[in-house]
Amino acid sequence: MPAGVSTIGSALAAPTFFPAPAVPRSAPVGTAEKPLPLIIDSDPGLDDALAIGLAVARPEIDLLAVTTVGGNADVRHCTTNALRLLHLYGASDVPVAEGSAGALFGAIVRATEIHGESGIGNTTLQPSPSTPRPEGAVDLIAAILREHPEPVVIAPIGPLTNIALLLRLHPELSNRIAHICLMGGSIGEGNTTVSAEFNVYADPEAAAIVFESGVPITMMGLDVTHQAVLYTPALERLRGLGTASGGIAAELVDFALAREGQWYGTPRMSVHDAVAVAHLAIGDLVDVAEYDVQVDTGHGPARGRTVGDGLPVRRQRKGREPNAQVGIRIDRDRFEDVLVDAYARLP
Ligand code: BDR
Ligand code: CA
Repeated sequence: MPAGVSTIGSALAAPTFFPAPAVPRSAPVGTAEKPLPLIIDSDPGLDDALAIGLAVARPEIDLLAVTTVGGNADVRHCTTNALRLLHLYGASDVPVAEGSAGALFGAIVRATEIHGESGIGNTTLQPSPSTPRPEGAVDLIAAILREHPEPVVIAPIGPLTNIALLLRLHPELSNRIAHICLMGGSIGEGNTTVSAEFNVYADPEAAAIVFESGVPITMMGLDVTHQAVLYTPALERLRGLGTASGGIAAELVDFALAREGQWYGTPRMSVHDAVAVAHLAIGDLVDVAEYDVQVDTGHGPARGRTVGDGLPVRRQRKGREPNAQVGIRIDRDRFEDVLVDAYARLP
């Protein structure tokens, strides 16, 4: 401890927000007998790659499609990664369609300093025999929503551009979306800026459209995803599986441990996106609380902030109801076991 620094209390600043209490979840959960029909909209992405692996592996999820959006890397890299990851996971029959290259407005924001230029660090994946669907992400999602016998869950784990476009182009399909379980935002601090988490910062206007859509939303933001952390032993567990998928997952985790480790001083990886998928497969892994979430679309230092109000008296004063359930707690050890167990089931 440096001289002049007290040893009192924890190493982390105490959150100053009102601690909204946990409530029963509103997001549906799949079962092995009745898997949840799910579309993942993603910008793979190191943690996206693990989220997609989890979705393929879990019997509670029926993965209908993976659509891509520019985010962590250029959308063309993200589409190639999605195709190749699904091939690796033995799921090259899952359709992939490419979506928006960048935000509705403004500059394109990338997270290549964390995920590498390609989005998947230094890893090289084997080419897939499949190609992207010609109709593109928004039309593919619309067709699935229209044709699937029951409403479909969407897990957006990248910037929300495609989902906002879907809601604007096909408003009549919003009641075919059973739930949006997204990774993005933060009630507390951001990661890309002090105010804003990456997926929301990359397209705040799109995020605002989604949060104001009236579709039931669960927001897995940094408040919970920064608890969903892997350390070096998890890397060894994945490598120890001795499978192709486990080996690639270990490579991706290894890259992330070093990059995120630069922020914290010790190797660690927040597997943000996998929390959104895990919540749909496991009923009691993540605790959620009710919030009214509004997105700051201004151009000051709070641009992209998800302003979350968890205090009922304050919401009443504003005349606003909760529009999202927000992840607040996850059992880290169990989450690691869920991920390793998922990869044990993949080729
Ligand atoms: C989110 O941003 C991306 O870099 C990750 O893939 C995740 O979706 C975390 O802020
Ligand atoms: Ca992502």
